[in-house]
Amino acid sequence: MAIREIITYPHPVLRQKAETITEFNEELKTLVKDMADTMYQAPGVGLAANQIGVARRLVLVDRSTREGEQNFLVLINPEITQGEGAVVQEEGCLSVIDCYDKVKRYRKIHVTAQDMDGKPLEFDAEDRFARIIQHEVDHLLGTLFIDHLSSLKRTMYKRKLKKILKNQQ
Ligand code: NI
Repeated sequence: MAIREIITYPHPVLRQKAETITEFNEELKTLVKDMADTMYQAPGVGLAANQIGVARRLVLVDRSTREGEQNFLVLINPEITQGEGAVVQEEGCLSVIDCYDKVKRYRKIHVTAQDMDGKPLEFDAEDRFARIIQHEVDHLLGTLFIDHLSSLKRTMYKRKLKKILKNQQ
C-alpha cells in the first residue's frame, strides 16, 4: 500500500495538460494501485493522476455501492465524446481544499477510454457516475471545478485560501 501526497491548488501541475499513455506495463499498474490507495484513504470518489503529480491521462472513478467497498473503474486516455441534459449539483475536489459549490454538468455522457491492458472501452454513464467522470476528465485538461464557478466566487475562494494557508504556517 502506497499512499501518495495529493497536490493541491494552486500547484502548477494541476494546470498541466496530461499526456497520452502509450505503455501498458507494470509501472502503470503500480501507479493505478497507488492512486486507489490514495483515493480511498483521502477519502474521495475520483482521482486524476495529475493530482498526485503525474501528468498522464489516467483517472480512477469510484463505483462502490456500499460503505467500505473499494470498487473503482480505471480509465486511461478517457474522452467524453457526447453529452446530453444538464444537472446542477454541489461538487468538491481533493485538490481544492475547503471549497464546495454547485457545478453544471451533463446528465448523461458517452465515454471512450482504454483499460489497464490498453483494450478499448466504450460506454454510457449517467448521473453521479457521469459527474465524477466529467470532473476527472477536466483534471486531465488542467481544469478544476472552480473554473466553472463565477469569477466572483473564484476570487472569494482565492481570498479564503490565502487565509487558510497563512494560518497553516
Ligand atoms: Ni478533483
